Amino acid sequence: MEESSGIGRASATLFAKNGASVVIADINQDGGLTTVKEIARMGGKAVFVKTDVSKADQAKNCVDAALSKYGKLDCLFSNAGFNPVGTVVDTSEELWDRVMQVNLKGAFLMCKHSIPAMKETGRGSIVCTASVDGILAIPNEAAYIASKGGLIALVKAMAVDHARENIRVNCILPGAIRTPLYESFARESGMPRTGGDPQADQHAMGRIGEPEEVAQVAMFLLSDAPTFMTGAVVPVDGGYSAVKL
Ligand SMILES: NC(=O)c1ccc[n+]([C@@H]2O[C@H](COP(=O)([O-])OP(=O)(O)OC[C@H]3O[C@@H](n4cnc5c(N)ncnc54)[C@H](O)[C@@H]3O)[C@@H](O)[C@H]2O)c1
Repeated sequence: MEESSGIGRASATLFAKNGASVVIADINQDGGLTTVKEIARMGGKAVFVKTDVSKADQAKNCVDAALSKYGKLDCLFSNAGFNPVGTVVDTSEELWDRVMQVNLKGAFLMCKHSIPAMKETGRGSIVCTASVDGILAIPNEAAYIASKGGLIALVKAMAVDHARENIRVNCILPGAIRTPLYESFARESGMPRTGGDPQADQHAMGRIGEPEEVAQVAMFLLSDAPTFMTGAVVPVDGGYSAVKL
């Protein structure tokens, strides 16, 4: 299950190219339908189910739709999120709640409804997209950082609870990735745009990442290959979390 722009779109396309039957779940219908069309053009299988992941009934509906369309659910890529700027002082209570609802509760709800379906088939693999910001704080992102830190902890809890049911749950931590989310964060936070990508120098590789580079790691973790990996927190960050500036 996937989304309609950025890392989600790149992942849905890559998964379908590699034979997955994909459900794209997003609040953005136009973006989702565009991704479905792109996948169909390549000869892949995908459907769009309009879903606000922060709403319990919509998360359940999305899982039900996947089961009725394809008969079973093997994988969940829980990747929806947004990234407003602000310290705790200038983040409104409403914005704090919305960040937690989408970035943390959204993953909880999608996993809550997906895990029973995976138990039915006796196996499953889940990947959640957190962020390097969930382990290393940067200024002016308090709610986002808290939501991603919470998500990392939730992934470990689910990994422990469901390991003996043959369901693996892992987490990826992207660095700065060239997507609409990154572009709007760069604009809102006033990062200087002269001389290339803001934040490029903070990555050991001296550049930001591309959505396809994150999709490759998500696909590996979702695949049957990493049979002894669960509860792992995997940076996909060009060395951002390794470098000391
Ligand atoms: N781009 C980066 O630099 C970066 C870095 C670290 C982590 N991430 C994480 O990667 C994930 C994907 O972000 P992206 O960079 O591809 O951004 P993006 O804005 O391109 O994609 C986010 C998608 O989530 C969808 N979405 C937002 N709220 C939703 C909701 N309530 N229900 C369903 N869908 C919803 C949006 O419509 C959009 O399609 C996010 O969780 C983000 O926090 C991104």
